[in-house]
Amino acid sequence: MRARVLSGMRPTGALHLGHYHGALKNWVRLQHEYDSFFFVADWHALTTHYQDREVIERNVYDMVIDWIAAGLDPDLCTIFIQSRLPEHAELFTLLAMSTPLGWLERVPTYKDQIQHLKERDLATYGFLGYPLLQAADILIYKAAWVPVGEDQDSHVELTREVARRFNHLHGRDVLHEPQALHTEVTRLPGLDGRKMSKSYDNAIAMREEPAQVQARIRQMPTDPQRVRRSDAGDPARCPVWQFHKVYSDAATQAWASTGCTTAGIGCLDCKQPVIDAILREQQPWRERAEQYLANPKQVHWIVEMGTERARTVARQTMKDVRDAMGLSY
Ligand code: TRP
Ligand code: SF4
Repeated sequence: MRARVLSGMRPTGALHLGHYHGALKNWVRLQHEYDSFFFVADWHALTTHYQDREVIERNVYDMVIDWIAAGLDPDLCTIFIQSRLPEHAELFTLLAMSTPLGWLERVPTYKDQIQHLKERDLATYGFLGYPLLQAADILIYKAAWVPVGEDQDSHVELTREVARRFNHLHGRDVLHEPQALHTEVTRLPGLDGRKMSKSYDNAIAMREEPAQVQARIRQMPTDPQRVRRSDAGDPARCPVWQFHKVYSDAATQAWASTGCTTAGIGCLDCKQPVIDAILREQQPWRERAEQYLANPKQVHWIVEMGTERARTVARQTMKDVRDAMGLSY
């Protein structure tokens, strides 16, 4: 049997190129090698967006369309929605009984996010419990590997501790310790050079309109010290260069770099191959998405099938968990 991989994404907006290069591209690859489970983490989105239900509602199926557009194949992987599987909540509750508060309070993302998202009131029980809910997501499928960014390492580590403690307390090997899977990811910054994020308004959506892509790249800031066309620039100071590193071959990179440092090309010249490459990359996504946008029932059906497949696994684990805890009366 193939080892199982599990990952989730929060449905808080249209996916952008940063999501694609940082995570989704990798999922597409993994589905060929592993028994892959990918889910919409809608409860997780609620831990921060509990006041904006429309945001989540609007984005759940759209995100699944982005996934399929990117190349996830429902025949190769299992796609489902967290909230359709109350078993996650049951495991979360049961694990909560024996999880020390300190384990959650010391997760680095907890304090970071409270600092970072000051405009939201995150002094909630749900937000503190976020990593434990994530542990339940992972453990319920006995996943061996969890492809996540390094920012999530502490959550996977907590998951391992929770599994170990459960097995120790109940004297059985019910829950399996997962490992974070860091494959090579491509870091694509946002248009302004900061991390690509919708909240910074520096993201290009996976299915952004071509005219819009062109306009936004053209407006992208460049080396601030290259004021006039005749000034030489330094790619190291320019976010466009970061895009060349992801999108251009060696020859184009050499052309851009030399052209920049000798003032041989203008910034708009330099941006054109990036625009072309992004449009080329997006083309099959748009084509694949089109048929699902025209036929939403098809997407619902895919999620339905995935959810039932996931449910079979989740139910079995919960049976083992209840047995181990003496709850099978
Ligand atoms: N916390 C993850 C994130 O913000 C999303 C997530 C929720 C997840 N549950 C998960 C990822 C389980 C991997 C496994 O990106
Ligand atoms: Fe940036 Fe290219 Fe302009 Fe140089 S020529 S500043 S790398 S956009």
